[in-house]
Amino acid sequence: MGKFHLGSLLAAGAILAVGFSTQANAEGKHGMYANGEIRSGYTYLTPQSKAIQNDDFQNPGMIWVDDGATLYEAVDGKAGKSCKACHGKAEVAMKGVATTYPKYDEDTKKIKNIEAQVNRCRTKHMQAKPWKYESGQLLAMTVFIRHQSRGMPMNVSVDGPAVPFFQKGEKFYKQRRGALDMACSNCHIDNAGKNARANLLSQGQTNGFPTYRLKWQKVGSTHRRFRGCNKQVRATPYKYASDEYMNLELYVAWRGRGLPVETPAVRN
Ligand code: HEC
Ligand code: HEC
Repeated sequence: MGKFHLGSLLAAGAILAVGFSTQANAEGKHGMYANGEIRSGYTYLTPQSKAIQNDDFQNPGMIWVDDGATLYEAVDGKAGKSCKACHGKAEVAMKGVATTYPKYDEDTKKIKNIEAQVNRCRTKHMQAKPWKYESGQLLAMTVFIRHQSRGMPMNVSVDGPAVPFFQKGEKFYKQRRGALDMACSNCHIDNAGKNARANLLSQGQTNGFPTYRLKWQKVGSTHRRFRGCNKQVRATPYKYASDEYMNLELYVAWRGRGLPVETPAVRN
C-alpha cells in the first residue's frame, strides 16, 4: 500500500467525517453475521466469496477440519494418549470452548489462545513435542476445535484477572506504529467500509479464524493476520504467540462479541 493512498484515504475519512455508525446493520440486513453495528468480515465479502464459505463442499478450509479430526484421535507422545482419550468426542467436549478464547490462564498468569492450550495439552498431558506455530498440525487442530463452536456467539471474558491484559490489547490496537504511523483502529474502526486500494476494509474481526485466505491458498492463524497488518504499515511484526499478540487477540475477540464463530471462514 502506498503512503499517498493511505494518506488520502484517511483524509477522505476525516473530511466526510464518516464514522462507524454509518456502517450500521440496517435492520437484520446481515442476519447472524452482525450484532448491532458489530459486523463479521463475511458481510464485506462478494457474493462469490460468500458462496464458497457457505458450501462445506466448496470451502477449502474444510480440509483442515478433516485433518484436525484425524489428529484428535491419533496417539502421540510418551504418555501414549490421544486428545480423544482424555476429552472424549470433540463434538461434545469441544462444543462452545472456542467462544471463550483467548482467556486468562491460572498456570502462566497470562492470556492463552486455543493454539497455546493445544500445545499445553501436548507437552503437559501427552508428553509430546509442541507443534510449531503456523504448522499444518497446529492450524488443523485449531480449525477443528474452533469448528465445534461454529454458529455460536463469541463471548470472551474481559473482567477479573483478564482486565490488565485486555487494557494492554486495547492500547496496542489504538497505538500508531510503523513508517505509515497508523493504528489498527485507523483502518478497522475509522475507515471500515471504505476501500484501501483493491481491499474493502472490514472491522478486522477474528470470529472466522483460522481463516482460509484465497490469497494465501491455505488457512492462517489470527497471529499471521496480525503480522500481515503490522507489515502493511511497515511496522516490525511481533512473534507468533507473543504476549503482545495474545493480549491483542483478546481485545479483538471482545470487539467481535456476539458474532458467530465461522471457522473455517473464507476471506480474500
Ligand atoms: C492426559 C489428558 C489430556 C490429553 C491427552 C489432552 N488433554 Fe486437553 N486438557 C486436559 C486437561 C486436564 C485440561 C484442563 C486445562 C489444563 O490442565 O491444561 C485440558 C484442556 C483442554 C482444552 C481447553 C478446554 C476449555 O474448556 O478451556 C482444549 C481446547 C484441549 N484440552 C484440547 C486438547 C487437544 C487438542 C488435545 C490433543 C492434542 C488434548 N487436549 C489432549 C487433559 C488432556
Ligand atoms: C493500513 C490499513 C490496516 C491497518 C492499519 C490494519 N489492518 Fe487489518 N486489514 C487490513 C486489510 C486491507 C484487511 C483485509 C480486508 C479486511 O478484512 O479489512 C485486513 C484484515 C484484517 C483482519 C481479518 C478480518 C477477517 O474478517 O478475516 C484482522 C483480524 C485484522 N485485519 C486485524 C488488524 C489488527 C489487529 C491491526 C493492528 C495491528 C490491523 N488489522 C491493522 C488493513 C489494515
